[in-house]
Amino acid sequence: MGYLQGDKPISITKLLAMHAEREKITMLTAYDSTMSALLNRCGVEVILVGDSLGNVIQGHSSTTPVTVEQMVYHTECVARANTRAFLISDLPFASYGDPIQALDSAAELMRAGADMVKLEGGDWQADIIQYLVERSVPVCAHLGLLPQSVHLLGGYKVQGKSKDAASHMLEQALTCQAAGAQMLVLEAIPSSLGERITEGLHIPTIGIGAGPDCSGQVLVLQDMLGISPGKPPKFVKNFMDGHQSIEAAIKAYVREVKSGKFPGLEHGFAG
Ligand code: KIV
Repeated sequence: MGYLQGDKPISITKLLAMHAEREKITMLTAYDSTMSALLNRCGVEVILVGDSLGNVIQGHSSTTPVTVEQMVYHTECVARANTRAFLISDLPFASYGDPIQALDSAAELMRAGADMVKLEGGDWQADIIQYLVERSVPVCAHLGLLPQSVHLLGGYKVQGKSKDAASHMLEQALTCQAAGAQMLVLEAIPSSLGERITEGLHIPTIGIGAGPDCSGQVLVLQDMLGISPGKPPKFVKNFMDGHQSIEAAIKAYVREVKSGKFPGLEHGFAG
């Protein structure tokens, strides 16, 4: 076990310190113990057990069919091999409709091994974020493209493009932070807005299609390994290109996020 050999597990305090020191945070998704062990070996600081498992593991066209029970199963699989990374697990669709339900769902994920739970939404989730945090459940919020709302949004579209929508998203981010969220994922928004929100907050932002100025970056593992079917989103880079093994590709991702090489201009969206 890495941390028994002297490597301390990554805590939220460590992630907040990295953000304060402007050291980029690396995050990738994982859904099983083999990949969890590999991400640990490659030095990835945060593992996200994303409800994207609905797409990449279960073969659905959206994340909405994923249940708490399934998230618990995959969180346990990942946690078993996790030696050092900070583990975030997604609260799936319709599992946090009110504070009591959110606490029940979050408790299951925490018992399965999560260090933090992630939920999608802005000021309409503030009461739930506050309720969870006051009961010792650390929360990561998620703004921009919200995959659980895909049926409401009418597809996977870049968010926050107009001046008003951008200002509104910044307000939403501040509300989530004030409610107690300790991290914020920003998905598919203009790079300029990713920078503006990151500058406006004191908690770390983790971007996926939100430009190079976020405090850290996340990708779906299968996407960055180039094995997801279909055309990848613009913000994805295939790190297997030029690398001989999955381990080398993940190490390259870590290096490129740390150095600021990834994401490049070509992976971002204009406002
Ligand atoms: O479920 C997931 O993998 C996510 C990432 C896209 C951030 O939420």
